[in-house]
Amino acid sequence: MKDGPDVTSETKTILRALAGETLPTPPIWMMRQAGRYLPEYRATRAQAGDFLSLCYNPELAAEVTLQPIRRYGFDAAILFADILLLPQALGADLWFVTGEGPRLSTIQTQADFDKLGPAEDIHATLNPIYETVRILRRELPAETTLIGFAGAPWTVATYMIAGRGTPDQGPAHALMQENTPLFEALIRRITQGTIDYLAAQIDAGAEVVKIFDSWAGSLKGDAFRKYALEPAREITAALKARYPDIPVIGFPREAGDNYIGFAKATGVDCVALDNSVSATWAAQHVQVDGCVQGNLASRHMVTGGPALVDETRAIVKAFSKGPHIFNLGHGITPDADPDNVQRMIDAVRGQ
Ligand code: CP3
Repeated sequence: MKDGPDVTSETKTILRALAGETLPTPPIWMMRQAGRYLPEYRATRAQAGDFLSLCYNPELAAEVTLQPIRRYGFDAAILFADILLLPQALGADLWFVTGEGPRLSTIQTQADFDKLGPAEDIHATLNPIYETVRILRRELPAETTLIGFAGAPWTVATYMIAGRGTPDQGPAHALMQENTPLFEALIRRITQGTIDYLAAQIDAGAEVVKIFDSWAGSLKGDAFRKYALEPAREITAALKARYPDIPVIGFPREAGDNYIGFAKATGVDCVALDNSVSATWAAQHVQVDGCVQGNLASRHMVTGGPALVDETRAIVKAFSKGPHIFNLGHGITPDADPDNVQRMIDAVRGQ
């Protein structure tokens, strides 16, 4: 149990679960719930022109955030933005290549690093994101929780170093080995920027924040402690000092055994689980320390059928003895069938 504020009278089920309450039905939202699997998202993105223009257009970004809430009545909305907006606000070039993904200017040398601006300058670029948050707090239903987010320093660094997504995060591991001081300076700059970015989202109205460490799984042993655990602890501690009542969700994706003790070591209120760990294992080893979120494989949103319902029910049951927020193990993919999302929600809510 947590010592946090008493929110048992709170109507927002996500906040109740995050405060440590075991609810008869777990609240539910979905990573990438605003995304290309929805025709209404594709239409609004076309209206904006491209993905980044959508992120920086507060009215349209708020609109796509609200679309899955209207369609499905999820218990939380996640701000529509991207983890790579922070590097852009720090001075990196960022663009998206259709069908391939993000591209950034690379950080390989001290001279590359020196071109970045200070953390406190990020707001000039990110102000439209805070405006999206303000619009959402006005427009969301009273029972829907608004989640803000940022990438974890390691995951953001992997993109800044390589200039793109990489299957094994090779360039980032290489810089870590070959120029540790530069690598650590980059981690520190991102950590500071992340604290400022999340604080500004909270000031604008975010009620929960989530830290996405999508590539945490490629950090092992001491590297996991130094570059996944420690930055998450530092960000959480800085936010808790200013906003003691704002819950933090940590997502060290594919951390495996490193999920054990993650909440205690970092101070996060909830650990989000990917689907490489089983729910029964995670209930025993992770949920013992508090709220967990997850962890249905997103492929069920494509394949559907009886397996979708069986697996959803099995996850709900496995986590039923403690605080749990239902979610996928990773983002929903563009080829998903929107009807399968409704089937998952019905299975969670027992209809
Ligand atoms: O979850 C949500 O709905 C909130 C919005 C959100 C997006 N990206 C929107 C997005 C969030 C929380 C993210 C996080 C993000 N972005 C992560 C961490 C989580 C994860 O998925 O592992 C990462 C690594 C990124 C970087 C990123 N953004 C990549 C690699 C890509 C291209 C791959 C892809 O899925 O197309 C993006 C683009 C992106 N971010 C899209 C969306 C909806 C698709 C862009 C489009 O509409 O074309």
